Amino acid sequence: MDPPPANEAGAVAGPRDYRNLALIGFMGSGKSTVGQAVAAQLHFEYVDSDRLIETAAGMTIQEVFTRFGESAFRDLEKRVVADLARRRDTVIATGGGLGANPEHLASLKTHALVVCLWASAEVVWERVHHHTHRPLLQVPDPLGRIRELLAQREPVYRQADVLINTGLRQFREVVQQVVIHFHLARAGEQGELRGI
Ligand code: S3P
Repeated sequence: MDPPPANEAGAVAGPRDYRNLALIGFMGSGKSTVGQAVAAQLHFEYVDSDRLIETAAGMTIQEVFTRFGESAFRDLEKRVVADLARRRDTVIATGGGLGANPEHLASLKTHALVVCLWASAEVVWERVHHHTHRPLLQVPDPLGRIRELLAQREPVYRQADVLINTGLRQFREVVQQVVIHFHLARAGEQGELRGI
């Protein structure tokens, strides 16, 4: 069966298919750690779009950026997004830019409940400032860059099915919130919540 059509804003016409759960959000929002914990609770497979890109490219994300530039990385990201639609029972953690692309978000919505993990620029900076593997933050003013990118991306991140502010919650609570929203979405999909 063909997936329901998705429009540019990420809205999907007709009944949704929640066979997967996708986590989007900015760098440092906790997609990977939360995703692994959620996958363990749901007994789902866990994949990370950046790791899939690294496997396909045979090199790290940092190397892709350095050797071929950001646009080459975005091309690889596009291919991974298409492949993700073939998965089932999978928790998908996405790179920070993937879920900020309206077309990619629309694609994720054809097969997954999309949960955005939100964090303010200051919280993101606090979490990532000691990391060195994020090419987009290798600039003289990384906090300024985070603010700028976050502001640009926010309108698309907000199109997620569920938005969870991770700056206000403990890790365990974030995981619980994601799991609960997923169960509710699936129950609704099966009509169990009709009439409530
Ligand atoms: C990016 C975020 C990174 C990685 C790449 C680009 C972005 O993933 O995909 O460096 O555009 O925000 P994380 O969000 O896992 O750090």
